[in-house]
Amino acid sequence: MRIKSIHLALLAGGIAVSSSLWAAGSSPAMLSNTCGGCHGTNGASVGPSMPTLGGQPAEYIVDTMKQFKSGERPSTIMGRLAKAYSDEDIKAMGEFFAAKKFVRHPQPVDASKVAKGKKVHEQNCGKCHEKGGRESDDGGVLAGQWKEYLQITMNEFQSKARPMPSKMAKKLEALSQEDLDALINFYASQR
Ligand code: HEC
Ligand code: HEC
Repeated sequence: MRIKSIHLALLAGGIAVSSSLWAAGSSPAMLSNTCGGCHGTNGASVGPSMPTLGGQPAEYIVDTMKQFKSGERPSTIMGRLAKAYSDEDIKAMGEFFAAKKFVRHPQPVDASKVAKGKKVHEQNCGKCHEKGGRESDDGGVLAGQWKEYLQITMNEFQSKARPMPSKMAKKLEALSQEDLDALINFYASQR
């Protein structure tokens, strides 16, 4: 708790400090507690625009934190925050969250969109985002992620603000807003 409040104070002041100043000797759990204010206890986000981290693959979390740190991936908060962590801290947090359960909260969905989204997913996305989006080492978990977050991040991809593999771009850029909406309903429907 103390670390979290210091951390938020640093964020508010817009100051990025080396993790060694304040996180020296912190355990992975202590480091990861500072993320819980936004991403939920053990990374089980209570939504709506904060992505669930618990149960995401370690590789995806680590790569993503590095992209935030370098500015390669756009962000409102995470870019500034990621700069405060060393590569070792990031690896420890990735492993901590990967070992937690991916908690899928119930979300309101439209049944006809879910059915359409399932087809769009299987035709375009299932090769990399396996098991209906439940698995993907380097692509993150989509099944049960918050709708609002998925919408934000899909828009970032479509506007090319967030980088994605060229094979994914080929598929995603060809989809209409209606297709994306169907996909989001499909992912959010999963328990
Ligand atoms: C003040 C709120 C806040 C805190 C604290 C916070 N995050 Fe985030 N996180 C966000 C937001 C908002 C996003 C979406 C990207 C953005 O706009 O910054 C995000 C996105 C992410 C993502 C991308 C998830 C995905 O599915 O692509 C990861 C990974 C992440 N955060 C890790 C962390 C870690 C690790 C910590 C603790 C060191 C942390 N966050 C602390 C708000 C926060
Ligand atoms: C060639 C493999 C591939 C295909 C096909 C693919 N993706 Fe991805 N996807 C990835 C990878 C790799 C990432 C991680 C990108 C990054 O942040 O570096 C990713 C990331 C994502 C994310 C971000 C997850 C998060 O937590 O922020 C979403 C959403 C997504 N993909 C949706 C889709 C959809 C929808 C389709 C089908 C239209 C699709 N992908 C097709 C490989 C793929």
